[in-house]
Amino acid sequence: MADANGQPAEPLRRCDVGILILGDLDRAFPPAKDYWVIDGAIAGQNMILAAEGLGIGSVWLGTWPQMDRVEKQRKLFLLPDTVIPHSVIAFGYPAEEKKGEHPDYEESRVHFEQW
Ligand SMILES: Cc1cc2nc3c(=O)[nH]c(=O)nc-3n(C[C@H](O)[C@H](O)[C@H](O)COP(=O)(O)O)c2cc1C
Repeated sequence: MADANGQPAEPLRRCDVGILILGDLDRAFPPAKDYWVIDGAIAGQNMILAAEGLGIGSVWLGTWPQMDRVEKQRKLFLLPDTVIPHSVIAFGYPAEEKKGEHPDYEESRVHFEQW
């Protein structure tokens, strides 16, 4: 899986579990099949939040719409054409503890009532 996603997926080599999230177009919402992309992102984020609650660390490894990664994951797992790799989430026990406010948080980018 790490080879398929290239250098940004290095965490996969050291993690405990990697989960490949897939979209199944045969089961996508018929009036708007593209919702599969949003559903995949929600599934990934929910896994990350649930893991966090258990003290398990994770990192999201972007796959779709980087089609070179999508095709390599598809070949690796022998996926049918209607099943599309969305993201990989690597899970493991954190090597460091996060403390305090996120360093990228910018209060000026949060708007209330109006822009
Ligand atoms: C769509 C998406 C794709 C990502 N792809 C990668 C990736 O390929 N490799 C990686 O190390 N992290 C990847 N990340 C994780 C980010 O680098 C970052 O660790 C994560 O969004 C949490 O960042 P923060 O704690 O700085 O907000 C991705 C995150 C998102 C949302």
